[in-house]
Amino acid sequence: MNNRRKLLCPSILNLPTDCMREEIEKLDATDMDIYHVDIMDGTFVNNFGMSVRELEMIRRITDKGAHKLIDCHMMVMHPHRYVEKIAQAGADIIYIHPESELIPSATLELIQLQGKKTGLILNPCTALEMVKDMLPITDYVMIMAVNPGFAGRTFMSYTRQKFTELNQYREQKGLDYHLLLDGGATREVITDLYHNCGVEGFVLGKQELFFQKEDYATCIDRIREF
Ligand code: DX5
Ligand code: ZN
Repeated sequence: MNNRRKLLCPSILNLPTDCMREEIEKLDATDMDIYHVDIMDGTFVNNFGMSVRELEMIRRITDKGAHKLIDCHMMVMHPHRYVEKIAQAGADIIYIHPESELIPSATLELIQLQGKKTGLILNPCTALEMVKDMLPITDYVMIMAVNPGFAGRTFMSYTRQKFTELNQYREQKGLDYHLLLDGGATREVITDLYHNCGVEGFVLGKQELFFQKEDYATCIDRIREF
């Protein structure tokens, strides 16, 4: 049984740029929790994502509206170079991939110095062993159930044991990081991970939130009930 409130995180990468402002205003009026903003450098992954200017725009919109949180998923090499910029642009939570840094613990410290929440994001093949020493200074742990870099991929079921592992580890050590999923969040996946694996947060893409028949508010309310 999971008593934690679900953290619902729309993945902004799914929005076409020509109507981004209007769509963000609509999202802002719903019961969603955290904007998920994917930043890519074309090297860590073979793609480009959102830009710092778009991050600033989301900040401006929600500051006039519902004051939601914004997270930034850094799919870039050596993200410590950009922590200050991303923090100033308005991210509340900054996720780094441990593989992208020689000393990821130093980057987490840098994020804390900027007064922001720390996030670690694990690739499907990243072992708990690689990150466990940093978990006491990590506020949010996100696990990727798809290979990073692209939206719309299918949940890879072999990643399920990693959610269970990170949930058990949190309990054993009395830690209190949030545990979230990025990639492939269908109704079935959300229901299973929330009720059986202690996962409370979900990045939402086309499967349950974007390009649905119903409006965003209806979809968000429905996902809360899964
Ligand atoms: C993938 C991105 C995700 C992506 C997830 O690298 O980090 O944020 O948008 O999207 P879906 O839910 O479509 O897999
Ligand atoms: Zn992401």
